[in-house]
Amino acid sequence: MKLIPLAWVRRLTPALRPLRVAVDGGWLRGSDLDACLGVVHPLLKVQRVMAQVLERRWVADDMLALTLHANGHWQGARPGQHLQLYLEVDGVRLSRSYSLTASNADGRLEIAVQRKDGGRVSALLVERLAVGDTVEIGTVAGALHWPSQAQGVLLLAAGSGITALLGVLREALAQGFSAPVTLLHYVRTPGQRAFVELLEQLQQRYTNVQVHAVFTDPACKAADGTARGRFAAAHLDQLGVTADQVLACGPAGFVERVSAWAQIAGLGEALQFEAFTPPHLPAVQDAHQAVSLRFARSHQQATGDNQRSLLEQAEAEGLRPAFGCRQGICASCTCLLLGGAVRDLRSGAVLREPGQPIRLCVSAPVGDVEIDL
Ligand code: FES
Repeated sequence: MKLIPLAWVRRLTPALRPLRVAVDGGWLRGSDLDACLGVVHPLLKVQRVMAQVLERRWVADDMLALTLHANGHWQGARPGQHLQLYLEVDGVRLSRSYSLTASNADGRLEIAVQRKDGGRVSALLVERLAVGDTVEIGTVAGALHWPSQAQGVLLLAAGSGITALLGVLREALAQGFSAPVTLLHYVRTPGQRAFVELLEQLQQRYTNVQVHAVFTDPACKAADGTARGRFAAAHLDQLGVTADQVLACGPAGFVERVSAWAQIAGLGEALQFEAFTPPHLPAVQDAHQAVSLRFARSHQQATGDNQRSLLEQAEAEGLRPAFGCRQGICASCTCLLLGGAVRDLRSGAVLREPGQPIRLCVSAPVGDVEIDL
């Protein structure tokens, strides 16, 4: 039920401050207040950032763009950053991270969701989320930024990596960036090219922008008869790309390929990248060892091992820790280490400071551990 329009919800938010103070002070429960406020409008909340779906639009065979309108708690974000979206599935709260392809000061924002085989959250968003439905928004993260002083920018996207790069590109062009920009979008088949119309409009409007699709399926011919296959330096030569700054976004394997090329090319800090699938975590070198796991808040204890992440081991014990990316980026799974030590599976660093926040998805126990879960 909606007794007031969404525009009023956004205006009313500052007036909720006394309620927030009462919730922070423990005098009132946020969930009770939210239930009462929900009678007025489902997006009216004491603290939570909620958003309503304004529009659904297919932008590729397997990608749906969602325009959302956030309530007044939304603090805004830079295009190219990614946000956590929360959904409840069969009583389990799930979250996934999506890049912002657009973000406006009036609380309107756009993300794009790629349908994935077996993807629980993407299937729900793509198939069931309707215009008018609400979702909860969590933390915003991501450090990709436009190199505004560059003499030329190369954008390398693979699959849904286009979403983050499209966000930064649109903003840069709107702000008057006029040096050459070349975008190479790697997709398996032509149907997976996303935002084709929008990219064509950008090319027509901004003569400094060149967009090329590169098909990785050997059966698909390149649209311009040039580059084909997985990313290779030869593609840049074929297209005559010159750029002093590079932004790359895609699955871990793609980003690793680009990083290897950038290292040989001596790009150093001129390369910014973001991977949206878990990187290959090096195997733990220590011999397999049984360890004791204590989950303090759940009052549970279990026998685990020093090989797997604490997120996997907690889930195996039936716990439901919050998670998002499962690759150490989004911080959704952050939890306090209360005792013992853990190894960061990405860097190998051992963390043993009691009270230290750790990311469960990339932390494995070094010995017996206690965590605040
Ligand atoms: S789930 Fe994203 S950091 Fe662990």
